[in-house]
Amino acid sequence: MKILILGASSYVGARLYLDLAKNHEVVGTYAGNKLCKDFIQLDITDPLAVSTIFKNTAPEVVVHVANSADARWCEANPEEARELNEISSIAIAKEAKNINTKLIYISSFAAIDPENVYGETKRASEEIIKNQCDDWLILRPSLIVGFSPNTTNDRPFNRFLKNIDDKTKAEYDNSWKFQPTYLGHISEIIEQLLNKHASNLVLPIAVNEITTRYQLASDILSDFKINVTPLETTTPPPSFKEDLSILDVYKLKKYTYKDMVGLIIDEIKNREKFTLT
Ligand SMILES: NC(=O)c1ccc[n+]([C@@H]2O[C@H](COP(=O)([O-])OP(=O)(O)OC[C@H]3O[C@@H](n4cnc5c(N)ncnc54)[C@H](OP(=O)(O)O)[C@@H]3O)[C@@H](O)[C@H]2O)c1
Repeated sequence: MKILILGASSYVGARLYLDLAKNHEVVGTYAGNKLCKDFIQLDITDPLAVSTIFKNTAPEVVVHVANSADARWCEANPEEARELNEISSIAIAKEAKNINTKLIYISSFAAIDPENVYGETKRASEEIIKNQCDDWLILRPSLIVGFSPNTTNDRPFNRFLKNIDDKTKAEYDNSWKFQPTYLGHISEIIEQLLNKHASNLVLPIAVNEITTRYQLASDILSDFKINVTPLETTTPPPSFKEDLSILDVYKLKKYTYKDMVGLIIDEIKNREKFTLT
């Protein structure tokens, strides 16, 4: 299958590229950071450039992962955030429909009940894609952890790597409770959905158990002899637990928290397997 990944240099996109390229012909785009020599430059806020790449590549599937995941940046720069995370989805959805391709949008738990600009833009993009595309899948991860070929973007998991490699202070919030998502799980669910020819579904992807950043950091970093200090926040974001039973309905892979942590520790120890050239 020919797959176009928009945002293949991102923390999430780089792992999806690596995983999906095992079984598919994959083309990746980047904006400013060319993580792999084969990636093609694309600014998703330029509708003409989006149209050109869709026509030139003619993919059967487009995976759209080129959004800012930085909620603080979105809050401080709401216009740019809407341009990147929301308005650009109009052209992407239109072109996907024009060339009759399946559009897989990597959304977020933040879209379920938006409480900030980031969540609002993700929710708005979901609506654009549902209303304008004929063949779509919306995947909603929670906070994502797992090894990616992109180890440098300031993402939560990459901070764990810095604790190990650069001995930065490991201090993490112990107030906000959430279900984490294993990065490798997203690629596996995409593979399963493509094999099942599934379409027009909104699916959460996470483990069932609830944790905190402190607990997650401790469980992963203790294997590398890193001490983690808990931080308490007076006003943590509201905790909620998402029902994952739809994954059972569609017979999709699920991970337990314990399995996820074990896999991630192995990934860190075997990190040479996660390089892009
Ligand atoms: N990380 C998480 O925990 C998490 C959780 C839930 C959902 N998600 C979703 O996963 C996606 C990726 O998140 P991430 O954590 O991997 O983010 P990230 O590493 O910060 O990457 C953001 C990406 O956006 C790209 N980008 C910025 N401006 C662009 C433009 N004008 N045109 C095209 N691409 C542009 C950047 O490309 P360059 O690198 O080439 O400059 C970068 O690769 C987002 O949709 C996010 O909502 C992430």
